[in-house]
Amino acid sequence: MRLTVIGTGYLGAVHAACMAEVGHDVLGVDVDQAKISALAEGRAPFFEPGFPEVLARNLENGRLRFSTSPAEAAAFGDVHFVCVGTPQTPGSHAADLRYVDAAVQGLAPHLRPGALIVGKSTVPVGTAARLASGLDADLAWNPEFLREGFAVEDTLRPDRLVVGVTSPRAEAVLREVYATMLDAGTPWVSTDLATAELVKVAANSFLATKISFINAMAEICEATGADVPTLAEAIGYDARIGRRFLRAGVGFGGGCLPKDIRAFRHRASELGLEESVRFLGEVDAINLRRRSRAVSLARELVGGSFAGTGVAVLGATFKPDSDDIRDSPALAVANAIRAEGARVTVHDPQGVDNARAAFPELDYSPSAQKACEGAHVVLHLTEWAEYRQLDPAAIAEVVAAPALVDGRNALDAAAWRAAGWTVRALGRQ
Ligand code: UGA
Repeated sequence: MRLTVIGTGYLGAVHAACMAEVGHDVLGVDVDQAKISALAEGRAPFFEPGFPEVLARNLENGRLRFSTSPAEAAAFGDVHFVCVGTPQTPGSHAADLRYVDAAVQGLAPHLRPGALIVGKSTVPVGTAARLASGLDADLAWNPEFLREGFAVEDTLRPDRLVVGVTSPRAEAVLREVYATMLDAGTPWVSTDLATAELVKVAANSFLATKISFINAMAEICEATGADVPTLAEAIGYDARIGRRFLRAGVGFGGGCLPKDIRAFRHRASELGLEESVRFLGEVDAINLRRRSRAVSLARELVGGSFAGTGVAVLGATFKPDSDDIRDSPALAVANAIRAEGARVTVHDPQGVDNARAAFPELDYSPSAQKACEGAHVVLHLTEWAEYRQLDPAAIAEVVAAPALVDGRNALDAAAWRAAGWTVRALGRQ
């Protein structure tokens, strides 16, 4: 099939390359010339394991091309996937829909007869119906559940496919698009537009709630001498609860969970349903409190004031195996400590360029050990695998004081203590 993918950020670029990988002819379109040039030359504009290989293979075999022209996109595709961002609106919790609106408006006047527009962006419930009402083409909604760091795997082997459609024909077209995944036995959920939109925000709200639940337990553990990783393990053996997404620490960040729960609350209140998801405000508040807790643990370790201290922060991205720093708990903590008078040096295996561009006032170091030189406290805030390989004895020799906050409960606290470190962690002693 001939597919276009409008918006070549994280979601769109991976979707475009993976649709080519399963045999479709794909045109990726974006207004950002630099991004399109990079992709067309086989350079990934972001760090995502496995993506450069899929990109290169499909550029080479000719099934994947890139363009900046909406008219070319409209003329090319039988199916147009809208994969543009829906960021949080500055000064509000609402999702900013201007890119979605512009993408659909850009296509509309040039569409070929019979073309299908398929939204993949995360949108407030009701958006698809609004877009469809002014459109002389069929529109469907097909939310995306890929995780950064596993984006290619999640796209090629999704755990479910959800499509909101208003015609049997739209469903048939989407079944053809995803034939490879359907043949592999992927569950297929076909529903109306509103349900499809809600599935996405409900899934992310549930995940955020699960993380904040365990982080609330961490607060109780801290006050009572209990141990949250053990508690998570023990409740997680109950298959109804499950072990995944129960890692307590500095909480969730990124371009999805925080803004999605806020946009959901905003939409619910527009609908007069504020009470139904009021708990998501609590989920958000618990999450943000964990960042403050990491700061206060570090402050205690430096003797009550950061003024004039050196602080090392290991990790800048919102999670490992990504270079994405959007709403990163690690950088929020780093900035809060710097605001209290410390000299903060940040290390990250992939996120330093993005972090430096956003926060030039922080110091950056090319190696974890160098970042720790002269530090009065080290904070481990993104659980990159390389930090678990660090030698606590070697780091102890370069710091000003061997004090560690493990904000992700991912380091071997016993090994660090054995090397002379004072270790504090979230939700445990
Ligand atoms: C999330 C969802 O997991 C995807 O299913 C969804 O498609 C995506 O948002 C999206 O809406 O596009 P992602 O933002 O890549 O994916 O990251 P997650 O793996 O969900 O992690 C989110 C945050 O939660 C990270 O900061 C991570 O460190 C934190 N987290 C995760 C915890 O603090 N504890 C956990 O147990 C798990």
